[in-house]
Order: sequence, then C-alpha cells, then structure tokens
Amino acid sequence: MDLSRSAAWSALVSHRQEMERLHMREMFTSDPGRFDRFSLCWNGLLLDYSKNRITPKTMELLMELARQAKVVEARERMFGGEKINFTEDRAVLHTALRRPAGYRLEVDGVDVPSEVASVLEQMKAFTDRVVGGEWKGYTGKRITDVVNIGIGGSDLGPCMVTEALRPFAHGSIAVHFVSNIDGTHVSEVLRRLDPETTLFVIASKTFTTQETLTNAMTAREWFLSRALEPSYIARHFVAVSTNRQKVVEFGIDPDNMFRFWDWVGGRYSLWSAIGLSIALYLGFEGFMELLRGARAMDEHFQEAPLEENIPVILALLGIWYANFFEVPSHAVIPYDQYLHRLPAYLQQLDMESNGKRIDRLGRTVEYPTGPVIWGEPGTNSQHAFFQLLHQGSGFIPADFIVPLKTQNPRGEHHDILVANCFAQTEALMRGKTAAEAGEELREAGADEERLRELTPHKVFPGNRPTNTLLFDEINPFHLGSLIAMYEHKVFVQGVVWQINSFDQWGVELGKQLAKAILPELQAGEECAAHDSSTNALINTYRSWREGHAGLSGRQISFFDEA
Ligand code: F6P
Repeated sequence: MDLSRSAAWSALVSHRQEMERLHMREMFTSDPGRFDRFSLCWNGLLLDYSKNRITPKTMELLMELARQAKVVEARERMFGGEKINFTEDRAVLHTALRRPAGYRLEVDGVDVPSEVASVLEQMKAFTDRVVGGEWKGYTGKRITDVVNIGIGGSDLGPCMVTEALRPFAHGSIAVHFVSNIDGTHVSEVLRRLDPETTLFVIASKTFTTQETLTNAMTAREWFLSRALEPSYIARHFVAVSTNRQKVVEFGIDPDNMFRFWDWVGGRYSLWSAIGLSIALYLGFEGFMELLRGARAMDEHFQEAPLEENIPVILALLGIWYANFFEVPSHAVIPYDQYLHRLPAYLQQLDMESNGKRIDRLGRTVEYPTGPVIWGEPGTNSQHAFFQLLHQGSGFIPADFIVPLKTQNPRGEHHDILVANCFAQTEALMRGKTAAEAGEELREAGADEERLRELTPHKVFPGNRPTNTLLFDEINPFHLGSLIAMYEHKVFVQGVVWQINSFDQWGVELGKQLAKAILPELQAGEECAAHDSSTNALINTYRSWREGHAGLSGRQISFFDEA
C-alpha cells in the first residue's frame, strides 16, 4: 500500500481542512459528553485525550488508516516472533521478556520462554545474594554501591527507572550510572566510591561499544589500583550482554555474565538482564512488578479493540499532527520529579526507532515520520519553554503525566503541582481571546491606546492539543505499563509509516568517522584527509595537545576597536 495515496490518507487530508475551522473551546461547549467520549480508564491509568483537535469522525478516519496499514496483523507478527526487523534479520521479542512461561515460542531453534525464565532465575539468585549481603567484596564486606556502565539502551532505561522508583528501593544499595565517554562522568562517580563495596555491572548488548568498554576499562584500573589482585575482579565485575566471547576477552568470568538475545533491541532491553541494576536497587520482586505492569499493557495492546486501545489511540493522534498538520515535534511533560529522566528515555525509544525516512520497500517516504521528542518535568518547564507552547507560531502536542498520589506528601505541594498540570492543559486548549484579553486590560486600568497596543500580545490562540495521563501512583507496576504503552505507541506509528522501527543504522556513520579521527588527533603530522573544517578542528586540537596554545581560524578582535 502506498500510504499517502491510500483512501484513508486522502480522507484525512480533506478532514483536516474541515478541522481547520473548529476550535476545541467550542467543541467542549457544544458537547458536554466530550470527556466521556474521548477518555479511557484502564488498570489505574486514566487517559484523557479529549483536549485534542478531533471529532468522532477524526477518530474513525484514523482507525481506518490503522486498519489499512494492517496494524493488527503487524502486532501479531511481532508477538509471534516473526523477523519483522528485516534489515537485521531479527525477531522483535521484548514482549517475551515480561510474559510468564507456559507458552510455546521458538526463534532460530531457541525456546524463548525457557531461556527468559532461566535468565530471570539467574538474576533472582544473584540479586538475592547481593541484596542479602551474602555476596561479599574482596575484603569480606557487603556490596553497598552498584555502578551500571553502559550507554543508550544499556543505560537510559535502568537509569530512568531507578530514578522514577526511588521510593520503592530497599535502601541498602545505591545505584550509579556511567555512560558518557567524557572522563568526567566516570571520575565523578568513582570519586565517591569505595572499591571494597562496589559492584560494576558492565551492560552492553554487543560488548563492542567504545564508550562502555573504555569506561569499563577505567573502572577496572581504578579497582585494581586499590585491590591489586586480578582474581578479585570476579567479585566486583559482572556483565550483561549477548556476546559471550567479547565478555570473556574483556576479562569477566563467564559465570558472572547475564545473557540476552539479539531479538531484544537495545532500547527495548530494560526488561532483560539489562535491568539487573534495577533489580539490585529495588529487589527482585520490585523488578518483577515492573515486568507485570508491562505485561498487563501488552495484553491490553493485544486484546483491546483499536478504538479502546491506549497505545493505538496515542499513536494515531501523533500521526494526525505529524502528517496532517506537519508538526515536527512532541513534548512529554511529567508532573512528577521522579520521572525527570523519562523524556530522555523516550527520546531514544521514539527517535532511534522512528527517525527513519526509508520505507519497507526501500523507497524514500513522502511524508514526515518520527517527531522530535523532548520535555522536562512540570512545573519547572512552565517557567522555561511553556511560553512557546502557549504563544509560539505553531503548536506542539504534548503528553502531561501526573500521579494522583505523591510519595512525599508535604503541605499543599501536591495540590499545587496537580493544579498547575490541569491549568496548563486547560490554558493550551482554551487560550484567551482578544475580547477576554482586552477586558482584563480594561479592568487593570489600561487606557484605549495601551489596550490596542497590548491586546495582541496578551492573546493565546489555544486549540493546542494535549493528552493527560493520570495514574493512581507511579509505582513499579504502573511504570512498567507506562513504558510498554510508549513502546507500543512507537510500534504502531512505525507500522503506519511503513518503516522498520527496530534497526538504527543512522548511528553508525558517526561511530565509523570517530574511529578514523581518533588516531589523527593523536598523530604527530598535520591532518589533511578531510574537508577544511574537519581538518582545521583536528589540527587545532592536535597542536593544543602538543603544547601549542591558541585556537586557529579567522581572527577577530576581542575588543570593539571603536
Ligand atoms: O549507538 C546506538 C546503540 O547501538 C543503541 O541502539 C544501543 O542502545 C547503544 O548503542 C548501546 O549499545 P550496546 O548495548 O551494544 O553497548
């Protein structure tokens, strides 16, 4: 099917013209049942999508688009273990990581449920020993600090989840994350730690990632500089990877390796042994609760009709704005300080998955695909970029995420937080008309001239779409559901856009070039192998490295000569 030439697509293009004239403010006034029509309650989660630029017809047309794109069939292929990641010839089975054993599924002769169950058992045994204090460091002390060394999917998921679930930690182990190759990251983390009580989890699907291996080597040197005896490494370094050979080459005892499989994508891997640092921080039961929450969302995604299917609805709303209003970005605003890393996590999940422009037949797509995902917690973000959300020249759809229950009840804090969240979505939807703005100015004593001057600046166009996701509480179960919800949203969008959401070739070129530039930075001779910009940057760094001060480039005077 040629998506942008399909009947469903054309119908949406014409419908968008009709919608141009409609303002949500009027749609709410004329339809008192709008919230009931466009909201869903499921398992401790309320999705309110009534503040979107939609009518029942919009949703019907979007559902038709999903049917034409064969979303249901694609979903069954993913859950069934077909190799839908065709550019890497891989199945996509992160959902199997949270599915209780007792079903049959084989991929390349591997019995998926029993493999998953056996790694979970290994994780449980290890976690229980470390948390229980039975696993001892080289001087016989218990482990108090876990450092996860990984990057991308081997970092963002565990980091986001452990931050989000701080109140659910057992408290006897602190977790730390080292991801950036900038030596500052590892140095700042190690500075606070004692090698006798620190356990390193080297997390890398491929075990070839430059940043992770360099950081791991630095951690190893740091450890040995105190512990002195290489055999002690076995008590302080474990690995999570699909690549046993590389783990062994690195010097980690294969008994201390937790495996996963190529049918788990890096950005979908927190449910695998990549979640070991989560299990160590929460205790194994907390990790299992996260998986149970994700599993519940998988079942909902598989079983609910498209019209009542939370990830499908969110995906189609995103498509409505990306493709029919050509809006290139989408904001995520958690009103929960513990979720402060969620936007960063979702950036990888969404943008590494759907930041593609080639369709499944190898053609360049003729429509926008994955939007830029960004965000910051509320209410901080209100005082930073909300100006643009309210009065910028275009609109940016946003998800507002807020729990009913706070983990830190303190005076009016939570009421104020929630009031702000609800007020922002109301303001974005309603806006403020020129008449309202003028009336306010008049009441404040402005004369007619000032009123004419100021009114345009005080108008809020409104009609700016938001989804509100209201949770009972952000706990391991609900967080699991929330993450799986976004995974499936991204999946549905990829299916409609006819792209492969599960490869990431776009990260390769920069990696290749960095490998070529590294020796040039360290070489003695002048570099002339690149364009003039890259050569000059390399040569400036080289000469600085060799002790020659100064930056090269067109010199401009520092002081104003006049
Ligand atoms: O550079 C992108 C990427 O391949 C991500 O997809 C992945 O999550 C990350 O690097 C880390 O890879 P690995 O787990 O193999 O070290």
